[in-house]
Amino acid sequence: MKLALERVGHAFLGRTVLDDVSLALDAHETVAIVGPSGCGKTTLLAIAAGLFDPLSGRVRRAYARHAAVFQEPRLLPWRTARENIGYGLEVRGVRRRERHAIAGRLAEAVALAPEDLDKFPVELSGGMRQRVAFARALAIDPEVVFFDEPFTALDVGLRRALQDLVIGSARERGYAALFVTHDLLEAVRVAHRVIVMAHRGGRLAGMRAVAEVPGARDERTIWQTAEAWRTGDPLFAHVFDVEGRA
Ligand SMILES: Nc1ncnc2c1ncn2[C@@H]1O[C@H](COP(=O)(O)OP(=O)(O)O)[C@@H](O)[C@H]1O
Ligand SMILES: [Mg+2]
Repeated sequence: MKLALERVGHAFLGRTVLDDVSLALDAHETVAIVGPSGCGKTTLLAIAAGLFDPLSGRVRRAYARHAAVFQEPRLLPWRTARENIGYGLEVRGVRRRERHAIAGRLAEAVALAPEDLDKFPVELSGGMRQRVAFARALAIDPEVVFFDEPFTALDVGLRRALQDLVIGSARERGYAALFVTHDLLEAVRVAHRVIVMAHRGGRLAGMRAVAEVPGARDERTIWQTAEAWRTGDPLFAHVFDVEGRA
């Protein structure tokens, strides 16, 4: 076990956002969290990542390093891609030469061209920026990675390419991941299991394991699984519209 939320509850301005949420993340496991907009996914992830404390319950962590990838890449505009990727290492006191070497290797891992490393965020496309943000997360060699709808702003083809990078890097590097998304197809593709949040009230509605492991599933099975859940599984009723999006 890498991470456990135990009976976590939270409220903003007296309004309950999370209620009695318990979940555990095992080593090498990717767990997707799906649910409609506003149901508390980002709050859950932020509490899991320790960005703030829940009002009740507790979070147990059994790891040294974690990283996060958000919907917006959140790069520093005055730094090149290379310097953005190395940012977390710089904070940890890693020397410039080694930071650059690591950034070079990671650029390759996330399919950034070497010449892109010298560009500033404004010179990069949305997809490239998100690759830089992903590489920056991997640079610190995290044991747990938190993803908050990281590819929602990208078009379908790009999204799939980045999902494949997540699947491949999680397997190679062995990190565990909590992956928030409102795209059921994405959840079924990247995760070992999918946790569904209730429409409102901040509770977990239930969990479904996905057959086989991420990366070993063919597209047809992924699509059929998502479709079967969306149309025939009561757990997902009223959560997704016809597009399969929350
Ligand atoms: N800092 C905050 N202050 C007040 N309300 C908030 C804050 N953050 C989120 N909320 C509210 O909490 C609810 C859950 O938000 P969020 O966790 O962002 O949901 P999701 O990520 O599933 O869309 C929403 O109603 C949102 O408006
Ligand atoms: Mg959110």
